[in-house]
Amino acid sequence: MTSVVFTGIGQLYTADPEQEEIEDAALVAEDGLVRWIGRSADAPAADERVDVEGRAVIPGFVDSHAHLVFAGDRAGEFAARMAGLPYTAGGIRSTVEATRRATIPELVSTTALLVAEMAMQGTTTFEIKSGYGLTVEDERRSLEIARQFTEETTFLGAHVVPPGTTADDYVRLVTGPMLEACAPYAKWVDVFCERGAFGEEHSREVLMAGRKAGLLIRVHANQLGEGPGVRLACEMGAASADHCTHLTAADVDALASSGVVATLLPGAEFSTRSPYPDARRLLDAGVTVALATDCNPGSSFTTSMAFCVALAVREMGMTPLEAVRAATLGGARALRRTDVGMLCVGSRADLVILEAPSYIHLAYRPGVPLAAQVWRMGRRLV
Ligand code: NIG
Ligand code: FE
Repeated sequence: MTSVVFTGIGQLYTADPEQEEIEDAALVAEDGLVRWIGRSADAPAADERVDVEGRAVIPGFVDSHAHLVFAGDRAGEFAARMAGLPYTAGGIRSTVEATRRATIPELVSTTALLVAEMAMQGTTTFEIKSGYGLTVEDERRSLEIARQFTEETTFLGAHVVPPGTTADDYVRLVTGPMLEACAPYAKWVDVFCERGAFGEEHSREVLMAGRKAGLLIRVHANQLGEGPGVRLACEMGAASADHCTHLTAADVDALASSGVVATLLPGAEFSTRSPYPDARRLLDAGVTVALATDCNPGSSFTTSMAFCVALAVREMGMTPLEAVRAATLGGARALRRTDVGMLCVGSRADLVILEAPSYIHLAYRPGVPLAAQVWRMGRRLV
């Protein structure tokens, strides 16, 4: 039952379509929720007062796509790519070997480190996928670990076909015993629908089985080339199609008319030296866009949403406003959450005080740690 009033907010970016930006603002958080927003001069009293002294405040970032439960790193693979080798889905298998060898306490502590990194950089809601276990028990324990950190957990048993089995046999395992063991710890089901991973029919089977087990759908789609992923996500009413790097005109139309969120993951294009997705084309077509880190040891080893915002602005045709909106409200939409990603009366009091007068600095000052304070549910996290 404590309340905090934040006063002197030079620029409050709310992400609330009703009133997206307020200058000289104040905000009251009480019992974990936003209770009041208005002009700083009109701010009511509260138990605690935080004078922001003209800094900008934004909602906590919502990172809707991250693979945090794994062991080992693939720095050598990254260096080889920077020397000219291409990225392929097959690299996943080396992380699978390391993850299987790791103990539960080891996996918990590496996940906790990444979660702490996220918090320090202003992320207050995040998703975690499995996908580096690929046996019933290794996937189950990955999700059990993920659940210790977030309610947004995703079963990605269909990440790649592990060695020593066929795609048909593996999909039978994923849709049968593996799903049964994992569903109690998962909210979402995902599939890597891509050349080198799973084709259209197998992907559909995985998603249908997940849905039957009560899970909601999201899809890794069209990352490495054009393909059926986005179409399938739209056909099946997924919350989000993630990557969306290689899209046909029909894919863009399908995203716009279905309302499926296009989650763009520019850390992956950065780290695989690939062409970035065309966010401008999606926004102009009326598609809801989210930005997320895709944090994983292979294709995007970053926990920084601010870095993704900067890339989206510099390389993908987004304005700073669109990019910050996609990293907050967009992420919430991709997770079908209405309580986070926005600062309005009744939303969760998750916010970042930036060491900057404006959210534009997130792109304008790339690589600079601008999250001065991070508050989650009305309590100071960082
Ligand atoms: O989202 N695309 C599939 N999964 C990850 C990459 C995984 C890996 O290379 O380890 C991604 O980019
Ligand atoms: Fe991913």
